Amino acid sequence: MLERTGLVEGNASAEEVVVAYHERTKHHFHRYAASLGYMDWATQPDPFRRYVGADLVRLPLPKAGRPLPYWQLYTNPSVPPMSLSLVSVSLFFRYSLSLTAWKQVGDTTWPLRANPSSGNLHPTEGYAVLPALDQIGATAAVYHYAPREHALERRALLDEKRWAELTESFPEGSFLVGLSSVHWREAWKYGERAFRYCQHDVGHALASLRIAAAALGWSLVLLDSVSDDTLSCLLGLDRDEDFAAAEREKADLLVLISPDLPASLPTESKPLTAHGSGLLWQGMANTLSPENSVEWPAIEAVAQATLRCESSPIKEDFSGFPSEDELFGTPIRQGLLTAERAILGRRSCVAMDGTTAISRAAFFRMLARLVPTQERRAMPWDAIPWRPRIHIGLFVHRIDGLAPGIYALARDPDKVDNLKKVMHSEFCWQRVPDCPPGLPLYLLQEGDCRALATTVSCGQDIAGDGAFSLAMIADYMDSLATYGSGFYRNLFWEAGMVGQLLYLEAEESGIRATGIGCYFDDPVHAAFGIVSREWQSFYHFTVGGPVEDSRLTTLPAYNFEEEQ
Ligand SMILES: Cc1cc2nc3c(=O)[nH]c(=O)nc-3n(C[C@H](O)[C@H](O)[C@H](O)COP(=O)(O)O)c2cc1C
Repeated sequence: MLERTGLVEGNASAEEVVVAYHERTKHHFHRYAASLGYMDWATQPDPFRRYVGADLVRLPLPKAGRPLPYWQLYTNPSVPPMSLSLVSVSLFFRYSLSLTAWKQVGDTTWPLRANPSSGNLHPTEGYAVLPALDQIGATAAVYHYAPREHALERRALLDEKRWAELTESFPEGSFLVGLSSVHWREAWKYGERAFRYCQHDVGHALASLRIAAAALGWSLVLLDSVSDDTLSCLLGLDRDEDFAAAEREKADLLVLISPDLPASLPTESKPLTAHGSGLLWQGMANTLSPENSVEWPAIEAVAQATLRCESSPIKEDFSGFPSEDELFGTPIRQGLLTAERAILGRRSCVAMDGTTAISRAAFFRMLARLVPTQERRAMPWDAIPWRPRIHIGLFVHRIDGLAPGIYALARDPDKVDNLKKVMHSEFCWQRVPDCPPGLPLYLLQEGDCRALATTVSCGQDIAGDGAFSLAMIADYMDSLATYGSGFYRNLFWEAGMVGQLLYLEAEESGIRATGIGCYFDDPVHAAFGIVSREWQSFYHFTVGGPVEDSRLTTLPAYNFEEEQ
């Protein structure tokens, strides 16, 4: 583990292990974080987990699209909730975790999904605990979602008594969805830094789930007090007998989805304990790599140090946050893009054109989406209970009417002073003219920062060739001190959620965005003048005009059903 490296003592606290892992997995100009350094094709993991022998419930794939406008995703109460059924469960997974295209070059094809993933390796697995539903199952059950088939694998049946106990504190019509990670899928390519990427991917998937729920008129909240052990047990991830030699999954999070959640959320996680034991499970997990996987003890160590125990749910006050009117100026209630096209059409790009500019209005709108509102916190921020811990350092290249330079968005308005203190003292912290009054956006320093943005993003041109790129700066040590070492994962989740919104907002503006997990950590801090270890960059992103790769052919994700 980490003590073998001399970074921590044998009796190091969980927080010390987290900090040591974070330091150890930084990319530096002179040295990247440890990885194999080449692609070992012999151990390439299968991106699709299957439970061999489990019943497969195929979900319908209608061709016809749904007309819900994209902007309406953010005005959730105005979308009438769909009833829970085969059709709505199918749409929910289609919008959150399904395949959205196959790409082809020559004889090689590969799938892409609604949720993005570092290196397209897809470590995140999805599970659902559903009530008895016509054409899905005669009793409540635990399912694994199989994206290649767009189907549910029935892992375990829950009798009526268990289902009633499990859901007694939840509103009528609720169900649960869990996420887990196969760390090996990312570690295969990225080595020790892979734990970070797995958590980013969980954050993207969490936002995808929230957005999918919003498209169906449903609410979704993270059940943040549930322990990882409870979740493993509920999802059957702790069952040695079903995994044998197959690569294990680590439980990440559980969400509650409901057509109508009361303002005060269920706080009781007790009914969830031990609900996996005593059930009849079916299916054996497939082995993902044909040969033995390489072990990365640093990942095991940080996974152990960030294990979540049962806790009280986080409750925080958002009354000081801006209202929707203050944040957007005029709230957005129009647009031609449908939610479905934004969700299913979302795509990263491998190159940006270095010329496309966006309007200030579009820029302000994108940033406003990243800030929770005072009333109902605004989708998707209503899914997580903590105040923003991720703030944004921006490299602005081409926004019409806005000087190029370095900017900052404090996603929690109360943190402006803290950010001022930790960043370069010569930054000017000027409010941006014409910016909506509630948007905490500041100019720090004018100037062409294209080369700087590219350099700190591991030399990736997409960071300098976009309209803007950004570093997500976490209020790191204070978060660990406040919520415990397990919250290290939540910081990446929050960053992933920010990224998922940027992806969809780029679709809305007719451009593209791309997540950037490869950046040089300390040089990013130096760019903002951050010396203290208390604040750390957790993710990068770029947004701009894409250069399409004309060698690629796009094929449909599935054989869709013709309308009757
Ligand atoms: C956490 C994360 C980190 C990523 N890092 C990079 C990166 O450093 N450079 C890059 O070009 N793309 C990066 N991507 C984009 C992925 O390569 C992309 O999501 C994946 O190939 C799937 O394509 P899609 O987003 O179009 O579905 C990243 C994506 C995620 C989610």
